[in-house]
Amino acid sequence: MAKVTIQQLQKMKEDGEKISMVTAYDFSQAVLVEKAEIEVILVGDSLAMTTLGHEGTTALTTDEMIAHIRPVVKGAPSPMVIGDLVFGSYNESIAQAIHSSNRLIKEGGCDAVKLEGALPDTVRAIVDAGIAVQGHLGLTPQTAVLLGGFKVQGKGHDAALKLLDDARRLEEAGVFSIVLECVPEELGRVMSQIVSVPVIGIGAGRFCDGQVLVFHDMLGLFDRFTPRFVKQYRQIGQEIVGAFQEFKEEIRNGSFPSEEHAFSGFSREEADGILAGIKSRMN
Ligand code: KIV
Repeated sequence: MAKVTIQQLQKMKEDGEKISMVTAYDFSQAVLVEKAEIEVILVGDSLAMTTLGHEGTTALTTDEMIAHIRPVVKGAPSPMVIGDLVFGSYNESIAQAIHSSNRLIKEGGCDAVKLEGALPDTVRAIVDAGIAVQGHLGLTPQTAVLLGGFKVQGKGHDAALKLLDDARRLEEAGVFSIVLECVPEELGRVMSQIVSVPVIGIGAGRFCDGQVLVFHDMLGLFDRFTPRFVKQYRQIGQEIVGAFQEFKEEIRNGSFPSEEHAFSGFSREEADGILAGIKSRMN
């Protein structure tokens, strides 16, 4: 697959071809996503929970984010790689937002950045600085406290209109795409129709321009909780536990390692001779 561009994603929307996006946080995950020819990788701040074991996303630092973007970029040359701006790295000032975006691009090597919330001025400034920005509306985990927790957003007429207005303002500010999280599916459909850029849904129903899922959620690698909108395509976590249990059992019963996993260099007799020599010198 050739390197995916913003223009290609835009054309996919215009042609009605659905876009696929998944998160990845390290080299081996990125290699797998590359092989599957997924168009977009998000190095999402969900890594704070899935990979670093935090309760939420707010503790993640820009240094940590960069450390995860780098191996993903190495492992996946073809998909567009988007780095998440972490909480606290773009809410102080526009200058701070540009600085943080520069770091993800320069030090991490990703193609674009994503930021949460209706912040058109911030988006415009980052885009003017020459960096592609993806927006993120609906349930925005970094500020979930303000939204009343991890709940469906945009329910009801006014809330839906507000989100649609936010989407248009982000579009005008220059985002190349919008992630829309955890909203009624009719809102996902309408937003995909009223903005010209691709809307990538997560828990936003069937009618968005594309879909994104978190790597660990869709593969059964994170069992603290599974939101209703997640489809678990595989139970890799259970597979891994099974493999470790087998490994342990084979170590205990002596069937691993077997001869095929061992190296030969000298015979048992030679080894016994060396051992006898050592013992006699010790006595
Ligand atoms: O951090 C993340 O994984 C995300 C997705 C939920 C879109 O922002």
